[in-house]
Amino acid sequence: MVMDKTFLILTIIFLVVAFMVLYLLLKNRKSSSSGELEETKKQLHSYMSKVDDLMFTLNSIHEFSLQVTGIASREDLAKYIVDLACKLFDAGTGSVMLINPKTSELEIVASKGLPAEITSSAKPKLGEGIAGKVAETGKPIFVEDITTDPRFNNKTGNGYSSKSFLSVPMTVKDHVIGVVNVTPRKKIETYEDKSIRLLSILADQSAFALENLRLYGNLEKFYMDMVEILAKTVDVKDSYTYDHAERARTHARKICKQLNLPEGITKPIEYAALIHDIGKIGIEHQILEKPGNLTPEERKSVEQHPAIGSNIIKPVVFLSSIAPIILYHQEWYNGRGYPEKLQGEEIPLGARIVAVIDAYDAMVSDRPYRKAMAKEKAIEELKRYSGVQFDTEVVNAFLQVLE
Ligand SMILES: [Fe+2]
Repeated sequence: MVMDKTFLILTIIFLVVAFMVLYLLLKNRKSSSSGELEETKKQLHSYMSKVDDLMFTLNSIHEFSLQVTGIASREDLAKYIVDLACKLFDAGTGSVMLINPKTSELEIVASKGLPAEITSSAKPKLGEGIAGKVAETGKPIFVEDITTDPRFNNKTGNGYSSKSFLSVPMTVKDHVIGVVNVTPRKKIETYEDKSIRLLSILADQSAFALENLRLYGNLEKFYMDMVEILAKTVDVKDSYTYDHAERARTHARKICKQLNLPEGITKPIEYAALIHDIGKIGIEHQILEKPGNLTPEERKSVEQHPAIGSNIIKPVVFLSSIAPIILYHQEWYNGRGYPEKLQGEEIPLGARIVAVIDAYDAMVSDRPYRKAMAKEKAIEELKRYSGVQFDTEVVNAFLQVLE
């Protein structure tokens, strides 16, 4: 929304300037005296440079909006902003400080070029130092020499790449959530400098993106709490399931890391690992805890659990992407599993990962109908069924992360 507004305003400004340039061009044609011609040329030059500035600003905002939409964590977003700010001002050092609402202190969440003693100790309160003043007033501050400015805390300036210092607020809905600091190498003449204006716009866009990430994080936590409640509910029916689910979740994260999967793919697999057996909620307790062999009917009933689980999860929009992982976690790589006898790559990667950790954990756990298998024996079984029941690549990754 904010991005749309900014874009619209900048587009209007751009059109107005372009119109003025056109007008001057026409006027230029009609102009007869050489003095007038010279004056018109100067004006034209000045407007063209403004158009260039605006184009640069529009492109920077556009590129920024494309980049930030793919960033999923507060730290990664802050790092992106620091790098961008340093690039804009040719700065060797920079940082993003966010206000900790509990302490009212600014804390560095991302930095470039700053030594650890600064990033770990710099925690100004609102109104303290330059960053604290910017956070309190919501107005940028530029100082030419930090070693002589009474507001700057680090009198020596050691650790900073230049003596000049620029701090710009990050504002969302008139509320400052942090500041962006850089030590520009180039000289800044006025606060109207196009780089300061651009950084202010990008800092506000970043604040908006950070706020969205925070709200999304709260929502995600709410859903995860619900997922854990669901997993505990299954525990009431099957005493083995909850601990098993927690271990499965930890293993899933490690395998994904080993396979170099991005966070966006890892998260759903981790959630799926936690609740992949949620469908057991719909299976009779006596069957799940039966200490002997299952009858064909009982086996059929147990084999319903992936479909039941997937149907429970599907209507929850936030969790719908993990429904296929739950549905297919009992498929075999060779197509002999259930419920649809998918094979190889037809089985979603998340389901192939959950299948390995589920089987391993089941083998090394005590069950009502048999004692736990030794770890070494379970590993042997995984290897034996690698390429048969399990994806070989996933088994290899799992064996590497298994302690
Ligand atoms: Fe299962």
